[in-house]
Amino acid sequence: MRRERFFRMTRAEALALLESAPVIHLASTTPEGAPILRTLHGVVVDDALCFHAAPVGEKVESLGRAVVISCEELVASIPSYFVDPERACPATTLYRSAQLHGTLERVDAPPHKARVLGALMAKYQPEGGHLPLDVAHPSYDALYEKQVAALLIVQVRLADLDGKAKLMQNRSPEERCRVLEQLWARGLDGDPRAIELIRQANPDTPTPPFLRFEPLFENSNGRSKVPVTLHCALDPGDVAAAVELLAPEYWNIDTFGRERIAGAILGSPVFVGARVDGRLVACARAISDGHKYAWVYDVVVAPEWRGGGLGEAVMRLCLDHPRVRGAARVLLQTRDAQPLYHKLGFIDAADAPPRPYPSTSMLRIQR
Ligand SMILES: CC(C)(COP(=O)(O)OP(=O)(O)OC[C@H]1O[C@@H](n2cnc3c(N)ncnc32)[C@H](O)[C@@H]1OP(=O)(O)O)[C@@H](O)C(=O)NCCC(=O)NCCS
Repeated sequence: MRRERFFRMTRAEALALLESAPVIHLASTTPEGAPILRTLHGVVVDDALCFHAAPVGEKVESLGRAVVISCEELVASIPSYFVDPERACPATTLYRSAQLHGTLERVDAPPHKARVLGALMAKYQPEGGHLPLDVAHPSYDALYEKQVAALLIVQVRLADLDGKAKLMQNRSPEERCRVLEQLWARGLDGDPRAIELIRQANPDTPTPPFLRFEPLFENSNGRSKVPVTLHCALDPGDVAAAVELLAPEYWNIDTFGRERIAGAILGSPVFVGARVDGRLVACARAISDGHKYAWVYDVVVAPEWRGGGLGEAVMRLCLDHPRVRGAARVLLQTRDAQPLYHKLGFIDAADAPPRPYPSTSMLRIQR
């Protein structure tokens, strides 16, 4: 085994990383034994990592030869002073990486080549805007046949794929919890997501104070026994569930469609919430310049979970988020949840100290 067991990713995780990597690196040798290292755009098709190349050059010379393909994602840099105020030695980097070992093979069948090129287009030009690279399409022969024939398509089968996720698995649960607090306090853009990844990889890590939640639910309805987890960085996989919670609410229902709500969440640097058994039950999002203004939007708790303190907990987390906590003013609008926001230090804007100059709030409705 090439990788330490401790840090190994599952094959599915390694594959997901390889599939989503914007670029991959390929290392091989020429027939003369000279080393080659190339950066490529790759795509997974039919259980192989595929890419295209010019029909002459180093990649052609490497056909049939052993290659290693790798990709990586930097999760967070952990500075030495998180652990030791004097020594530089504890500085480390948290990352996820995948490696594929195999042989470079040529793909010759035109339908297969077209499918690889179509998959590359779908990955790097997902908005479309071209006719399909499909041999069955009526325009294929005229538009693509010659060009596809002239391109070299190569693949490496996914048989020997593994991945490594270095996410503090070698530290004690208490050390990890301390680092989670330090990452939250540091608050660089990737830190909330790093906190989520470290917790996912190490379920025995104690919950840091900023993510603790004591449910207020009565025992009689059984809900207090269900563990609620707070999340400082929900991920794109939560967006569909968030849209389901948000679409029927009064400020969205006649104004913003599901696609626009989803786009707004994906465009927000702050997307926090709570899950029960992996299911999203509450969320809030914010946009912020990090210094002057932050705007909180789309605060919601699933109807069956209301009245138990979750709305307040998610809002506290949102306000404590590094992007929001650094802003001098936090704004939001509400029809009837003023008591919730009063508890959190908001005042009605009409009661705010008057500005030294008269002004009007303005709005441009575009769509
Ligand atoms: C508003 C909402 C997010 C509150 O979440 P929640 O989990 O039910 O609220 P909590 O249990 O954390 O309550 C915290 C405080 O908020 C206030 N509050 C909660 N629900 C409220 C409501 N519907 N109207 C007015 N105040 C409310 C109370 O003051 C409560 O404090 P208390 O328990 O000391 O009385 C939730 O009811 C919801 O999703 N409503 C529909 C969507 C919505 O209106 N979102 C807010 C848009 S600005």
